[in-house]
Amino acid sequence: MWSLKLSDMTKIGVLISGSGSNLQSIIEAIKVGEIGAEIAVVISNDETAYGLTRATDNGIPVKVIKHGDYAERQEFDKELVRVLRECEVELVVLAGFMRVVGTVLLEAFPDRVINIHPAILPAFPGTDGQAQAFVYGVKLAGCTVHFVDEKIDHGPIIIQAAVPVLSGDSESDLKARILRCEHKIFPYAIALYCSGKLHIDGRRVIIDGVDDVLLAQQSLISCPGLN
Ligand code: GRF
Repeated sequence: MWSLKLSDMTKIGVLISGSGSNLQSIIEAIKVGEIGAEIAVVISNDETAYGLTRATDNGIPVKVIKHGDYAERQEFDKELVRVLRECEVELVVLAGFMRVVGTVLLEAFPDRVINIHPAILPAFPGTDGQAQAFVYGVKLAGCTVHFVDEKIDHGPIIIQAAVPVLSGDSESDLKARILRCEHKIFPYAIALYCSGKLHIDGRRVIIDGVDDVLLAQQSLISCPGLN
């Protein structure tokens, strides 16, 4: 078991592929001092990702690395690592990054890559976790922040949040409710990481100095007004 304490102002690299609403939630949390970090770079594999605009609007350096430009996934990963290192990134945050990251990146940043998944893992891994949950007919859906390992949506879980599925919900209602939850727990998990409160013990992530009951009340079941 070891501490994941980083420097006082952790340099984060955020990888995105799309809208970047999770990126925005991280930017806002940093602005109000909830996360002791700075975003050193936002990297997208898609040049049309709106998250790039969100980043530049906030003065954050951006880089587009198109996966299609690389014949091998390893070469794509190597370029990601090169840019992340160039920007002195300490923590890699996958915020809607629609590529599977491989060992090249994971070995360059051991226990320093985290992801948000829009389902309560280990249920509904892979793409469209919300749609999978909706079609399955679950009564509780949610999201998971976890460390990334070599298997898809599999690494040690940092925090999870649940939301109800209501009878009148459309798939997009559920998706929106889960996304609002993502915007709460992802910045929170990053803040815990950056303040050195997370420890990995096998498959378990131990959180220092956090009241479990309070944590459960605040974020594990999120039904304020069923939003
Ligand atoms: C989120 O639902 C995230 O969980 C999933 O992709 C979506 C990204 O949304 N991996 P955004 O780009 O952060 O708005």
